[in-house]
Amino acid sequence: MGLFIDSSDPKEIKDLFAWGVLSGVTTNPLIIAKEAPDADLGERIREVIAVSWGDVSVELTTETESEMLAEALQYHAWDPARIVIKVPFSEIGLRVLHQLTKRGIKTNVTCLMAMNQAYLSALAGATYVSIFSGRVRDMGYDVRPVIAGTREILEREDLPAKIIVGSMRHLMDVNEALEAGAHVPTVTPPILRKMVWNPRTIETINEFNTAWRNRPKKK
Ligand code: E4P
Repeated sequence: MGLFIDSSDPKEIKDLFAWGVLSGVTTNPLIIAKEAPDADLGERIREVIAVSWGDVSVELTTETESEMLAEALQYHAWDPARIVIKVPFSEIGLRVLHQLTKRGIKTNVTCLMAMNQAYLSALAGATYVSIFSGRVRDMGYDVRPVIAGTREILEREDLPAKIIVGSMRHLMDVNEALEAGAHVPTVTPPILRKMVWNPRTIETINEFNTAWRNRPKKK
């Protein structure tokens, strides 16, 4: 289904979208607080929208149902076709998700650590369910069965939600998420660059170009 970038940095996003491999952006409050603590959220997200294409996830930061709903409607209005409301998973989160689903607003249920949470989110109408690879592994569990089990239940129950796997710490996390059934890995810029880098590839290209430059020339 695609590959998303987990960043709110418009410069990085513009550079990396030029590769033609990305189809969306995920952000969260921690990323934005680190990358642009003084930024106006609306301006930052509009800048991201201007240099990318596809879905752009923006996470709710309020904690009551009415506040979350109002916050979601505010973000949705920035670009109804492209903004995806990232809803932190909880009982209140499910209520908000249900409201947004009824209004036809795209959603990404986030901070998921288990298949049962992803299943509930999908039943309530989530567009995306986000499983956090690194944070599951931080607890000492293997994330692959969580991803594979979620994929299996979504297909068996014919639920349209797509699995995003984020919280990637290493390149191997991306490979394993894809093999386990992730629809969309979301990766940070450093991890995306690691997906390109391979010393044997660089060495081989250098060998070819050196041979070409040093080929015997006709006198
Ligand atoms: C995914 O959508 C999240 O933004 C992100 O990947 C969370 O990762 P972290 O565990 O590095 O905070």
